[in-house]
Order: sequence, then C-alpha cells, then structure tokens
Amino acid sequence: MSHAIHDRAFRDLLGSGGVVDDPERISTYVTDQRQLFTGAPLAVLKPATTEQVADIVRLAAHHEIGIVPQGGNTSYCGGATPDASGRQIIVSLERMDKIREVDPLSMSISVDAGAILKNVQDAAASAGLLLPLSLGAEGSCRIGGNIGTNAGGLSVVRYGMTRDLLFGIEAVLSDGTVVSDMRKLRKNNTGYDIKQCFVGSEGTLGIVTGAVLRLAPLPIRRSTAWLKLARGVPLAELLALVRRESAELLTAFEFMTARSIALATDAMTNPPSVCAGAGGAVLAEIASSSRHLDVDELMEAVLAEAIESGWIEDAFLAQSGSQRTAMWQVRETIPEGEKRRNGSVKHDISVPLSSIQRFLELADTQVRSYDTDLELSVYGHVGDGNLHYNVLVPPDADRVEFTKRIESSLSLQLYDTAAALGGTFSAEHGVGRFKKHLLERYGDFGRIAAMRRIKTAFDPADIMNAGATVRPLRNATLA
Ligand code: FAD
Ligand code: MLT
Ligand code: ZN
Repeated sequence: MSHAIHDRAFRDLLGSGGVVDDPERISTYVTDQRQLFTGAPLAVLKPATTEQVADIVRLAAHHEIGIVPQGGNTSYCGGATPDASGRQIIVSLERMDKIREVDPLSMSISVDAGAILKNVQDAAASAGLLLPLSLGAEGSCRIGGNIGTNAGGLSVVRYGMTRDLLFGIEAVLSDGTVVSDMRKLRKNNTGYDIKQCFVGSEGTLGIVTGAVLRLAPLPIRRSTAWLKLARGVPLAELLALVRRESAELLTAFEFMTARSIALATDAMTNPPSVCAGAGGAVLAEIASSSRHLDVDELMEAVLAEAIESGWIEDAFLAQSGSQRTAMWQVRETIPEGEKRRNGSVKHDISVPLSSIQRFLELADTQVRSYDTDLELSVYGHVGDGNLHYNVLVPPDADRVEFTKRIESSLSLQLYDTAAALGGTFSAEHGVGRFKKHLLERYGDFGRIAAMRRIKTAFDPADIMNAGATVRPLRNATLA
C-alpha cells in the first residue's frame, strides 16, 4: 500500500482535522522531549473518539503498520517517539481531552485519556477535591501518558504513583477491541486487574482512551517549609521524623543541592532568596483538608525537633501563598534551568530509603574518579527514595555526543551502584526506547520473560509501540 493510499484511508476514517499535514506542526510530534532523537512517522493522526481510535488500530493492524500512542510528548525516555523506519504512525490523543464526569461523593473523576493533567487537577479542584498527581510537566502531559509511564512526581510520598490513583480504564487493544471498564470502584476483585496492565506499559499493550481517577479531599491548609540541611544529614532519618511527627500529613519532601537551586534561580526572573545549607535543602510540605488543624504549628514543632537533632541548620515557613508558590517554583524550575545551561544526562534512580545516603556517597566517588570537572545537579523526590542524579552537559559540549559518552560509561557505574543497593535505573520516567538496554542489563530474567508473555498476549504482531520496552515472544520462545 503506497503512502498516498494510506493517507487517503486515514482521511476517510478521521476527516481532514484528524491528519496532521503541516510539516512544521508534524515536527513537534516526532522529536523526543530531550531532543536526542527524531523519528520518521508515516503519519500523525489525531482521532476525536474512542471509535476512531479503534478504526485506526484495525486499519493499522490489517496493513502491519506500527502505532506509537502519544500524549503530551514529555517522556524522557523516547517512549513517544516513532522509529526511523517510516512504518509507524503517531496516534496523538490531544483531541480527546474532555472531562467526562466529576463524582464528588465517589471521589472520582472520569476523563478522556488526552485530557491535560493540569485541566484535570483544575476540574477536581472546582468540585472541592484534589487530583493528587503533580509534576513539572503538568501543563502539557496528558492522562494517557501519565498512565503509560506510571508517572510519579511531587506528592507520591502521601498519595502514591499514578497506579495508585486509577479506578477504571477504557482502552483499545491491538486488534481494535475496546476494553470498557470505566468504573469508580475502590473494590472490585473480579479476576485479573486489566487496567493495571496498562500502567507503565508505555503504549506497548494498547491505547488508553479514558480513565477514572481517584480524588482526595482538597487540602485547604498547607504549611510549606524550606529546610537548610546540615552537612552529612541522614536524609532517611530526617524524613522518618518529619513523617511520623506530622501524623502522615506530609505531602512532599523534595531534596535539592545548592547547584540545582542555583540553576533554577538563574532561570527565574524574580527568584526568592532561598539557599541550601552545607548538606543541601529540602522543601517539605504538610497539608490538611481540615479547618480544625493548625498545620503551621505542627510544622514548627516538627522542625524544632529536627533542629535539636542537629540535622538542619535552619528552616523557615512560607508566610503567604506567594512565598509558597515561589519556593515551589524554585523546585519546579530545576529541569528548565538544566535545559538552559545545555541540558543534563539524567539518572532517575531510586534506592531503598535506608540506602539514600550510601548511594550519594558512592556515586560522588564514582563521579570524581571519572572526571573531576563534571558538574552535577542532584535533586529529587527523596521522600520516595528517588533521586535525579543528573550530570550537567558542559556549556560548550555537543549535547548529544556528551550524553552518549556518559550514558555508555559513567551512567552504567551509577546504575550498577543503585542496583547493588537494591535500587533501580528508572524510578518514575520509564524505559521507552532509550533505556531498553538497561532493562536487559538489570531486569530479572523471569520478570522480563513474564513481561514478554504479557506483551505477546496483548499484541502478538508487535503493532503497539514496537521498539519500546519489550518485544513479544517469537514462536512462543524467548528468542
Ligand atoms: P508521552 O510522552 O506522550 O508518552 C509517554 C509514554 O506513554 C509513551 O511510551 C507513549 O507511547 C505512552 N502513551 C501516551 N499516551 C498514551 C495512551 N493514551 N495510551 C497508551 N500509551 C500512551 N515524570 C514523572 O514521573 N515525575 C516527574 O516529576 C516528572 N517531571 C517532569 C518534568 C518535566 C519538565 C518534564 C518535561 C517531564 C517530566 N516527567 C516526569 C516525565 C513526563 O512528564 C511523564 O512521564 C508524563 O507522565 C508523560 O506524559 P505525556 O502525556 O507527555 O506522555
Ligand atoms: C522532576 O522531578 O523535576 C523530573 O522528574 C526530573 C527532570 O525533569 O529531570
Ligand atoms: Zn521527578
């Protein structure tokens, strides 16, 4: 089938609004977020309904055309970028962006998979509820992509990952079958939990078209504190103290080194005057939906205890909404700060909380013995044992070349260290195309075998996002 015939078939299915023509617009879909790779899709399609998604999948399956589902294209692992074969189409969910229903008493929200995360948060807030998923890319990433990557972000310490927020799903399988399970149930033990298969599957099992997400009471009181850490602070112990004494109201515990803070403040027009202590800084927040709790008083008592232990040099509380926002802006601007400086080689590691300190010590030694001139930007969701241990690309270096060099040498040493401590090479960003070799290197043989069997069951012909994560079995073997 020629390119022109495909084009006509897609237009017949979707109408002209469903096929992206303009080469300039196409270019925004084909390059990954970190601008490391540009694919060559056969077409970029934008279905408007679940039926249209199913029609596309059936047509693609019939003609053995590969499909790369795409949300906001903010994946850090090249998971939403097609390969260079010209045999894959991008299916962007961006036209399927509706909030279907907010049910305040069931504490759930039902949405199209193309809904932008920020819009879903806002819709929940209008009903006095919280969608407890928050990340720097929330203005552009979409719920289908959050499910595809099992996104984590800034409030996992209290509410869990995307996986923990999913009540129901609607998805199109690789033969066009629609799984329709948009339930609002917290309990539903009726066999395999199919919706969870899609979480973290990075588009390799089917296309998610809708989701029901769990909401929480909207916090109306927040206490946000900037902690200047003492040198050698035992982060896990500090976290344990804050968590215990704040009665599980802790919603964020974000670590930042002085270098990461400086990158962020350099990129801000009106940065607040915050800085790190000798051991870095933590942005901690406790929040309550109750009017009867004085969260500032609670936070002050917790911090007094931490200061007494000698773990923090100093701490101050945001005195207003704008101070709170400014503190958060520093944390959330770090990725942009890295980008402006020529980017970073990202290491999204996690280790058991008890090993965070050990990881930092060992990794630091590895970096210094690799190259004393390397600069780091280290920060992350320490409350979840997750560090972004990023190596800054020198301003005068070729970003892609430098990234390749570090990823084939130092990165492996760092991941080995994380693995030796019982940790992982990808805490929240996924595997995609860029980290497949790491899955092979660190993944347990049996676990990969099980993943390939699941892939084979869902997508034997490897239509769905071929090249990402794992491939199906060939002739029922692991070859
Ligand atoms: P995309 O990038 O479009 O796709 C991601 C994967 O999901 C791809 O494999 C794609 O094929 C698949 N997919 C997309 N839509 C669907 C669908 N409808 N059905 C099936 N599969 C689908 N991540 C975190 O976890 N925590 C963070 O704190 C965080 N911060 C970030 C900050 C910035 C500034 C940026 C740029 C990224 C950040 N990320 C973070 C990474 C990224 O935002 C998340 O992985 C996000 O969940 C991806 O959503 P997306 O809509 O952009 O998905
Ligand atoms: C974050 O937490 O800011 C992101 O996951 C890390 C990044 O953008 O590199
Ligand atoms: Zn993160």
